[in-house]
Amino acid sequence: MPSRRSLLVSGASLCGLAAVGTLGCTPQRRSRPWLDASLSPDTRARLVLAQMTREEKISLLSGFFGSKREKYAPPPGVRKGSAGYVPGVPRLGIPPQWQTDAGLGVAAQRDAKHKRNGTALPSGLAMAATWDPELAYRAGAMIGAEARASGFNVMLAGGVNLVRDPRSGRNFEYAGEDPLLAGVMVGAQVRGVQSNRIISTVKHFAFNDQETDRESADVQVDPDQARMSDLLAFQLAIEQGDPGAVMCAYNRVDGDYACESRRLLSDVLRRDWGWKGYVMSDWGATHSAAKAANAGLDQQSGRPFDAKPYFARPLRVAVARGEVSPARLDEMAHRILRSMFAKGLIDDPVRRSPLDFAADAAVAQQAAEEGTVLLKNAGGALPFGPGIRRIAVIGGRADKGVLAGGVSSVVYAPGGNAVPGLAPTEWPGPVMYHPSPPLTAIKARADGAEVAFADGRDPAAAARLAAGSDAAVVFATLWSAESVDSALELPDRQDALIAAVAAANPRTVVVLETGGPVLMPWLDQVAAVLEAWYPGIRGGEAIADLLFGRSDPSGRLPVTFPRDVSQLPRPNLRETDARGQPVVRYTEGATVGYKWFDARGLEPLFPFGHGLSYTTFAYDGLAAELQGQDLVASFGVRNTGRRAGLDVAQVYVSPQAGGWEAPRRLGGWKKVSLQPGETVRVSVRVDPRLLAVFKAAEGGWRIAPGVYKVEVGASSRDLKLAATVELAERRLPAALTG
Ligand code: BGC
Repeated sequence: MPSRRSLLVSGASLCGLAAVGTLGCTPQRRSRPWLDASLSPDTRARLVLAQMTREEKISLLSGFFGSKREKYAPPPGVRKGSAGYVPGVPRLGIPPQWQTDAGLGVAAQRDAKHKRNGTALPSGLAMAATWDPELAYRAGAMIGAEARASGFNVMLAGGVNLVRDPRSGRNFEYAGEDPLLAGVMVGAQVRGVQSNRIISTVKHFAFNDQETDRESADVQVDPDQARMSDLLAFQLAIEQGDPGAVMCAYNRVDGDYACESRRLLSDVLRRDWGWKGYVMSDWGATHSAAKAANAGLDQQSGRPFDAKPYFARPLRVAVARGEVSPARLDEMAHRILRSMFAKGLIDDPVRRSPLDFAADAAVAQQAAEEGTVLLKNAGGALPFGPGIRRIAVIGGRADKGVLAGGVSSVVYAPGGNAVPGLAPTEWPGPVMYHPSPPLTAIKARADGAEVAFADGRDPAAAARLAAGSDAAVVFATLWSAESVDSALELPDRQDALIAAVAAANPRTVVVLETGGPVLMPWLDQVAAVLEAWYPGIRGGEAIADLLFGRSDPSGRLPVTFPRDVSQLPRPNLRETDARGQPVVRYTEGATVGYKWFDARGLEPLFPFGHGLSYTTFAYDGLAAELQGQDLVASFGVRNTGRRAGLDVAQVYVSPQAGGWEAPRRLGGWKKVSLQPGETVRVSVRVDPRLLAVFKAAEGGWRIAPGVYKVEVGASSRDLKLAATVELAERRLPAALTG
């Protein structure tokens, strides 16, 4: 009798099984049964692993960098200027892993001679501000298709770190401060990327929420509070996106490096969530062989960034010494192979082909239009109508392009950098402006109105131009980048420029191109403010369409704008412990963003969820009821204005008895498009975890029995309807759902 094992590795037997699938029974399938797509990814990974030498297994576990770095030159096979490369095993039909950043498009490394073009999406915060998961999916599908056509099969796209501080240099890559919004939007993007039969990577796991001391700081956070905040965002993104990979972060967490944290990598990701992909380290975030491998790290990325090629020779030695078991080595390789099979990398190898930048840019433009937030619009200053005959466009290099954020996520759009040579030109530079000049787009839509430009370096000259115009549009920029945190103040005396222009023209509109929130000392003096974030390759066109009312501003803030840093949980981003080691203490626990402002009774500059439209909306008829065990809120949304528009109706939940980290949590939302006078009735199902409190000691999530309030509104501070519903006690496991 053949054993089960011999049956599994016998090509002939498997071929018999495969013949009923799609592959038929070719000689190749006979000799390489793991290529049979009708088998499960786990079976396929097991089959091929059984054929691998130890050296071949180890070769899967560490990646090179795609550009020259110091004395190190990339190996043959690498895609030049890319983030990473892991050799394949050609004799077994296993392709290399070609890795590229990131969530905003197919990026190119800054020190590469070979600048690869890609379509630049608006920033992650802009995408989150659309509150439109379907659009995030399409954007992900677009960049994933470009990755595939550029020869990449692993995208490092899926940044879901929470905005705990508005100054973090990478906020622009992430999806805001709320775990539900961030998790849903990033999960949708990951699904979109992976619809191209490639892997996407949710990152940076976990708590890399600031750049100050990111490679050394120890983040201290209550484990239960973490589950209801940062880890909930990851959990939602992972269960909705099902990424092939997760990237562990640079920082330490409660003493251990994130890439050596057994608690994060094994207890949370594997034991509790049951996730089956592989964990790769951030570039330069691996610090050991045995400790990291045993904690749950499966692949060392960008090894020239680490002190040693830990997952090459040092790992071999650790296995020989018995510090890492052969079974763990197999598990590491298995997880990588499993994801490669599961996501289609092996059945559908990537092939380079031409890109259709014009078609792809349409997705970027829609995201920029829907993600731009109209923060203020006094007296209907916007949109510009036919009465506006002279328009002053001022500052922000609006004659050249739109700003992007810096370092690993930088996309080189066709046309290159519209403003080359700005400091810093080296790390964390270059400063990138995408060639989509708002000035050109405004002229194209001005319908014969006179449009003049002042670069803003001379505020008096800009004010003179504004004084002689019917409206002034001031572009203000704040560059932010990975590895450095930013201030909340606009740099280069732009506040003074805006104040001078506003004093000269009452119809002054400020367009902000920023990574995240900024302070606005001139807010009372200007008529309108549009937050355009980093709006991507069609940013200029999108901004102009919004200014002229060709599209309705439907972005809503995914992040609270504070009045000043004293309102933040940690006004000082740099802290040290008794030994002088950098530390970040999340004493606020899960009370992040609007929850912090609500719990402390602080008045923000603009609240989470805020954003105006050119029309108006009203809500009515709220019913909060249980469908099965789930809470569902239903209500009507009506367009009460005279223009078509898009609304984001938000549902907030809270227990009447209190006891949560904050007065309310976002429970869900619906984005609707309505003609004037049109009404639609919508239903929002609330994820039960948002009604629960996590307590590891009690086995997971628990909804306390009692009366809960359900509120519907246009922002976290503009609640229009309320209802109550009684909930029974309910316990939910820590595992992934969906
Ligand atoms: C970033 C990652 C990125 C990697 C590869 C690191 O500096 O933190 O997000 O994926 O570089 O470029």
